[in-house]
Amino acid sequence: MKLNLSFLTIITCCHVLNLQPINIDEAPQIVSYEFVQHPNSSYYYAYETSDGQEKKEFGNFIEINGNKVLSVEGSYRFTADDGVERKFKYTAGVNGFHVEPDNSIEFDDRIDPNIIKSLLG
Ligand SMILES: *[C@@H]1O[C@H](CO)[C@@H](O)[C@H](O)[C@H]1NC(C)=O
Repeated sequence: MKLNLSFLTIITCCHVLNLQPINIDEAPQIVSYEFVQHPNSSYYYAYETSDGQEKKEFGNFIEINGNKVLSVEGSYRFTADDGVERKFKYTAGVNGFHVEPDNSIEFDDRIDPNIIKSLLG
């Protein structure tokens, strides 16, 4: 009965969110993973998946006005549906969350004419 309820919950969530169930055989696999926790609570993690996604993050507690504040920097990349690899870097901390394209990659920022057509109706 518990299993049936879980199944029903998943079906309901997928229906409400209009999500397709993930075929686990086709889902990207994690090909490398690393996590390091230092004695001072700073951490580093990185992973890469079989479809070329990559994420790295370093978190460090820095002292500001006597308070320990988490300061994070990281980067991630993935290949978008258009086949173009996107790469970003980010920081998070007392000044908020900031993400920016990694400048080592050229972005094609022309807007697809079909998108404009669909917006105009
Ligand atoms: C904490 O330890 C890591 C690894 O040794 C170091 O890189 C980092 O600077 C340290 N953080 C502080 C706030 O000292």
